[in-house]
Amino acid sequence: MSGGARAVLLRKAPCLPGTVATIRLAVPADFPAIAEVERAASRLFAGTHMDWAVNAPPTDPSWLAAAWGRGWLWVAVAAADGRVVGFLMATPLAQDLFVQELSVHPDLHRRGIGTALLAQAAAAARKAGCAGMALTTDRTLPWNAPFYARLGFVLQERPAPALRERLAAERRAGMDPRQRCAMRLDLRDVPPDGNRASF
Ligand SMILES: CC(C)(COP(=O)(O)OP(=O)(O)OC[C@H]1O[C@@H](n2cnc3c(N)ncnc32)[C@H](O)[C@@H]1OP(=O)(O)O)[C@@H](O)C(=O)NCCC(=O)NCCS
Repeated sequence: MSGGARAVLLRKAPCLPGTVATIRLAVPADFPAIAEVERAASRLFAGTHMDWAVNAPPTDPSWLAAAWGRGWLWVAVAAADGRVVGFLMATPLAQDLFVQELSVHPDLHRRGIGTALLAQAAAAARKAGCAGMALTTDRTLPWNAPFYARLGFVLQERPAPALRERLAAERRAGMDPRQRCAMRLDLRDVPPDGNRASF
């Protein structure tokens, strides 16, 4: 993949109009609102093969605290009322930044917030010297693998060991391995063409 293709996501953050939402680092006072966003966002899975996710418990606050402590937890705040309407939680994984959770409140789906959260994390990961961003997701639901693919994430048919272990942990937790996949966005070789100035 060319550097230009890799840079797609890095160019996306400025596409979120400030009239919709803004992205900032989370603070612990955001944790209850983050849990609510996650609960509400999971309703998108109702009636799909991931119906079980609708009633899954939200992320353990200790995980949020760990991500917050490392500076890898962002929230989207709605311009209209200051509500937290999205979040992205990440953790280092080998040379990459691994996206553990990404959720946006359904009231504001498809307005560019999820993309902007990913773009913010990608910019921070790049600045921190990460080689790429990685994640695991559902192969077919349109807001999972196809959404990430549009942003330049590449399906990993032979994931690196750390990423493979993530898939194995999901399998042990009861997820269907045929539906799951690993994806990765390479952040190296992105041309220094001013993308950084966008953040
Ligand atoms: C994935 C998620 C965070 C995306 O948030 P978002 O703010 O809607 O994302 P964006 O507006 O930046 O991009 C949305 C894109 O996702 C895809 N998408 C999202 N919802 C979709 C739907 N119901 N049907 C079809 N495509 C959909 C489309 O490609 C869409 O782009 P488009 O609106 O231009 O067609 C959000 O759908 C969500 O919270 N889902 C539930 C939790 C989840 O699946 N998290 C990811 C786990 S790996």
